[in-house]
Amino acid sequence: MALRLGDEAPNFTADTTEGKITFHDYIGDGWCVLFSHPKDYTPVCTTELGTVAKIKPEFEKRGVKVIGLSVDPIEDHNGWINDINETQSCTVNFPLIADPDRTIAQLYDMIHPNELDNLTVRSVFVIGPDKKVKLTLTYPASTGRNFDELLRVIDSLQLTANYQVATPANWNDGEDCIVVPAIPTEEIPDKFPKGHTVIKPYLRTTPQPNK
Ligand code: BEZ
Repeated sequence: MALRLGDEAPNFTADTTEGKITFHDYIGDGWCVLFSHPKDYTPVCTTELGTVAKIKPEFEKRGVKVIGLSVDPIEDHNGWINDINETQSCTVNFPLIADPDRTIAQLYDMIHPNELDNLTVRSVFVIGPDKKVKLTLTYPASTGRNFDELLRVIDSLQLTANYQVATPANWNDGEDCIVVPAIPTEEIPDKFPKGHTVIKPYLRTTPQPNK
């Protein structure tokens, strides 16, 4: 069955381009992005992995580890990484899981047979320090992901994990937030001393509390 938000991310051991890992140990006390790509030595995947390598410092700033996966063997990953580094002007600096027997792909429901026969689609799982799934995304093979959007979502997930706020459409870090409906308007000044605006009784905004 598909993993749902709030489910525990299944643990596994796997061979990666940076050695054998146990997934929950790899996550440690931080956050993790586990993302799959359909196939090594393919064009869109090459650009995606190069992009992730180049913005890895942005994930690190947020305390997030990244790890990729496909059903290709480790030898293919290692050979392909040279191409990624060459063509994308980067150094792939995060592990790629080799899952040739598809154990992990099946555990995470990354194979969607109506889309690709026996290959993983472009799945993304954001996993919190409690090892629970905080976000899932699924893209088809033909559409490369927007990893800036992934960073934006992580900013929201990390903020809303710690404050009683939600983030509006197209929100970016540093912008006003929405006070969650569970907080009565009369309690807002105590909880959000930076101020607030009541636009409607159900729509109250406040400056981002941790900025
Ligand atoms: C790609 O990365 O370009 C790709 C991979 C699998 C199927 C189609 C495209």
